[in-house]
Amino acid sequence: MNNGTPPAQPAALLSSATILVVEDDGANRALLTRLLESEGYRVHTAADGEAGLRAATTYRPDLVLLDVGLPGLDGYELTRRLRLDPRHATLPILLLTGRTALSDVVTGLDVGADDFITKPFAQPELIARIRSAIRLRRALVGMEAAHAVVTALANAVEAKDAPTERHCERLALLAARLGQRLDLSPAELDAVTYGALLHDVGKIGVPDRVLTKAGPLSDEEWALVRRHPDIGERICAPLESFAAFGPIIRHHHERWDGTGYPDGIRGEATSVGARIVGIVDAFDAMTHDRPYRRALTTEQALEELRHGAGRQFDPELARLFVDEIAGLPSRLPDPPGDSFALVARHLRSADTAHPVGARDG
Ligand SMILES: [Fe+2]
Repeated sequence: MNNGTPPAQPAALLSSATILVVEDDGANRALLTRLLESEGYRVHTAADGEAGLRAATTYRPDLVLLDVGLPGLDGYELTRRLRLDPRHATLPILLLTGRTALSDVVTGLDVGADDFITKPFAQPELIARIRSAIRLRRALVGMEAAHAVVTALANAVEAKDAPTERHCERLALLAARLGQRLDLSPAELDAVTYGALLHDVGKIGVPDRVLTKAGPLSDEEWALVRRHPDIGERICAPLESFAAFGPIIRHHHERWDGTGYPDGIRGEATSVGARIVGIVDAFDAMTHDRPYRRALTTEQALEELRHGAGRQFDPELARLFVDEIAGLPSRLPDPPGDSFALVARHLRSADTAHPVGARDG
């Protein structure tokens, strides 16, 4: 048993997972500890609900094995409280119970438990269920890490290209909004969101003096800027969901009439995600100050989009976007921090009516 200082690194990165056992019966607690340690797990224990709650926060276990019949805070209430804390949102919680009534199972699932183990339990079954829950937990932690990488990459671009601060986040929200108007599938919406967040990640490879230059760019400098879709594509290629959003990064500067870059493709040869990001990118750039020009008003920018429909922009998408933005309040706040969480919240929210996007009136 290890009840010492908390682990120095996340338990999910260790070869053996950490399990928190919350059980008031001393003999059962000792039995479970021996069993789990013999399987290679690190074990922390708590004898009541309050101590279990504290231990979950201190030790950040990979799984909690929880007796339902605890004194004070019982297993259901402890489960409910753990689930209220976003840090424990994906923590597997297995309830140990002598009760097998359907109503108990329903109560447990309602408060957020993942599985039930009926006492007395068969040891191989208990171990098999724990192994399965921890495998799922590790997959979820891996997904969370991937989201963190995407956000970190998006932040890296913004740090380099300071005048465009929050540009990627605003873009992700606007792109998701337009995607919803088009009834894109959840997977397509995710791709559009990632693509919008990362569309300019290739600017990492463009010299600062070019990105922040106040005057007009020389032909040579333009050639450097125009490399960013290609660089971005190479940076993101190792990411697992690259196949879904890579074309957005590569083609967000293509034009409907085929005069864009880097490939000069036209019309629907450019993916719908890239056409969406192309429109919202242009709109957001126009409505914010740049080193070389002042921001346009929302109405002026929408007029530019109408003007560019059928030439730079997909005419149908441009019409939908203008329609969408024209209906929003003229001065909108910038999105709060943590772009991925924000976008995820936006995508999952049933209420899509809250205003997002440009801040210029
Ligand atoms: Fe770009």
